[in-house]
Amino acid sequence: MTSEAIEAAVRTAFAGAPRRERLHVAGRLRSCPVDAVGDATPAVGRVLDFGCGHGAVALYLAMQASGRSVTGVDVDGDKIALARDAASAAGVTVTFDEVATDYRPKGEWDAITIVDVLYLLDEAARLEVIDGAARALAPGGVLVIKEIDVRPRWKFWIAAAQELVATKVLRITAGSEMHWLPPGVIGARLIGAGLKVEQRPLHHGRLHPHHLILGRKPA
Ligand SMILES: C[S@@+](CC[C@H](N)C(=O)[O-])C[C@H]1O[C@@H](n2cnc3c(N)ncnc32)[C@H](O)[C@@H]1O
Repeated sequence: MTSEAIEAAVRTAFAGAPRRERLHVAGRLRSCPVDAVGDATPAVGRVLDFGCGHGAVALYLAMQASGRSVTGVDVDGDKIALARDAASAAGVTVTFDEVATDYRPKGEWDAITIVDVLYLLDEAARLEVIDGAARALAPGGVLVIKEIDVRPRWKFWIAAAQELVATKVLRITAGSEMHWLPPGVIGARLIGAGLKVEQRPLHHGRLHPHHLILGRKPA
């Protein structure tokens, strides 16, 4: 299936969701480079999507490759309920769990995806999540972090203004503060945790300065 076809299938999975959530998921699929996250994630193995929200990325990953066993976790129980309904409407097996704010990735995962979550965490929590995720990777596993880069500056301000509306005005996203970190800082922490890091800027041709940081654990 092409990425467009998978995104259409994810949108269809939310056809029964309330209008506001349906529009949010459609907007998310339009603005976030979910295809780049999918392409960086191994086609086979256990995948944890940390801070999965409504589950659009987790569903995309499960629909893209049937060899993935995908679990999504989030602190927002309402989003988890909608994610479960969408998975069941699509007939796709994904486990969605509501977790406490102090949940940190544990276990052994072949991939952990963290898409637009770290900026919502304070510094201590963010470092714990990054370190926990690095530890929870199986040998050869990959951590796929998608964040907004702080450069180019004008693209960053557009993205930051939209996030401010989502968190403070529409209250779609939980989180009282936003702390954007340069990808180099996240990468340095991953290197310190023993991962081999690859930086992939994704802002070319896009309004938002999307950025992927991949951290691979030696096999
Ligand atoms: C901007 S949304 C991104 C959702 C999803 N990853 C996506 O790309 O569509 C950020 C998500 O992080 C979740 N979140 C915030 N703090 C969290 C925490 N401490 N543990 C797990 N999830 C958290 C929020 O509830 C929200 O659903």
